[in-house]
Amino acid sequence: MNLNRDSYDAIAARWEQSRVRLGASEERLLGLLLQAAPAAARVLDLGCGTGRPLAEHLVSQGFKVTGVDQSAAMLALARERLPEQEWHLASLETFVPEGLYAAVVAWDSLFHIERQHHCAIFRRVRAALARGGRFALTVGGSAHPAFTDTMFDQTFFYDSHDPQTAEALLRDEGFVIAHSEFLNPPTAGRDKGRYAIIATAV
Ligand SMILES: C[S@@+](CC[C@H](N)C(=O)[O-])C[C@H]1O[C@@H](n2cnc3c(N)ncnc32)[C@H](O)[C@@H]1O
Repeated sequence: MNLNRDSYDAIAARWEQSRVRLGASEERLLGLLLQAAPAAARVLDLGCGTGRPLAEHLVSQGFKVTGVDQSAAMLALARERLPEQEWHLASLETFVPEGLYAAVVAWDSLFHIERQHHCAIFRRVRAALARGGRFALTVGGSAHPAFTDTMFDQTFFYDSHDPQTAEALLRDEGFVIAHSEFLNPPTAGRDKGRYAIIATAV
């Protein structure tokens, strides 16, 4: 049993309807991610979901996308939407990228994975980037224990280091932090916040 895989499989059609466009901040941050990437370069999308809107945006900018996701239902929609791109059904805890990418993105996916795995994922991302390549990710926006929450009547698992710890771990794995910001700050309620980081491989 894999809670998040089963839950994303169950909500794929509803997710597809609800996650249609990039937010203005997301589009700006993807611009930062890709500002030094050569035309038509390869971009790795970890936790790519349905390929909309993120991979779709990358392809519209001329990039070649390799998407990875453990939900067969989410990935099937991505494959249907963008059949020319490369799609892998795999868990990020074990996926090892092949070759080099100009940029890597893990958007709203890392915080679904137990924090004990995050360092090893950062290490594999660093190995997939040449010096100067960029990694864009989101993490939770506060210090909190792992928790579950519901979305579309399904239960999902969440875990994250706080933003400062995530940035320190990225530095330890051979990145400098080029930019970071809160996409939404934590509230006193159930929203733990969401924090975006653009890290450059050094
Ligand atoms: C919140 S959605 C984000 C999708 C996409 N990145 C976006 O921004 O629209 C999270 C995605 O991460 C995938 N995911 C979660 N945990 C994963 C894991 N351990 N390995 C691979 N994919 C995972 C889910 O299946 C889901 O498609």
